[in-house]
Amino acid sequence: MSRKLLEFVQDITRLLAGESDEARILARGRERLAGLVAVDDWLPDAFAQPHPQYYQQYLLYADPLDRFSIVSFVWGPGQRTPVHDHLTWGLVGCLRGRERETAYERQADGSFRATDTRLLLPGQTAAVSPSIGDVHQVANDLADQPSVSIHVYGLNIGRVQRHVFDPDSGAAKSFVSGYASSVVPNLWA
Ligand SMILES: [Fe+2]
Repeated sequence: MSRKLLEFVQDITRLLAGESDEARILARGRERLAGLVAVDDWLPDAFAQPHPQYYQQYLLYADPLDRFSIVSFVWGPGQRTPVHDHLTWGLVGCLRGRERETAYERQADGSFRATDTRLLLPGQTAAVSPSIGDVHQVANDLADQPSVSIHVYGLNIGRVQRHVFDPDSGAAKSFVSGYASSVVPNLWA
């Protein structure tokens, strides 16, 4: 079912070619992502494999000019990201399992406080960006099975320097996430 992913890549490419307003990119991109994750029948198994220790970030597609990237995130039971930022717009669509997303806001003393927690069920989406709230933590809310979500970002997310935070102290650490895989799906298979 690579056709679904190919059509999604085409949709996002067309969207970004004709639109530069972030709010509209998020709104329209979110509709398209909701369509992609509405039915869980297209993600190749190789890009849905959990790791016993670490959550996985599989690159599905990267725009050659780094205008966007599409990634499958796979959390094993109980796994979660650190509190982190993106420094660009991002969309999250839950494909499988159940995810828990906690938004954080920086306080006057420099620390981060959790402001909102929501569960993402298959087919549901969320958005982040520096203008609407860019710091969050995402966790697998299931203790006995993996969760998988599809993410879209406004740049090549695995290649850029961003930050993880210690929420209590507010201390930031720079990181480049990279990708767990060295191959991408054949969209024309
Ligand atoms: Fe994130």
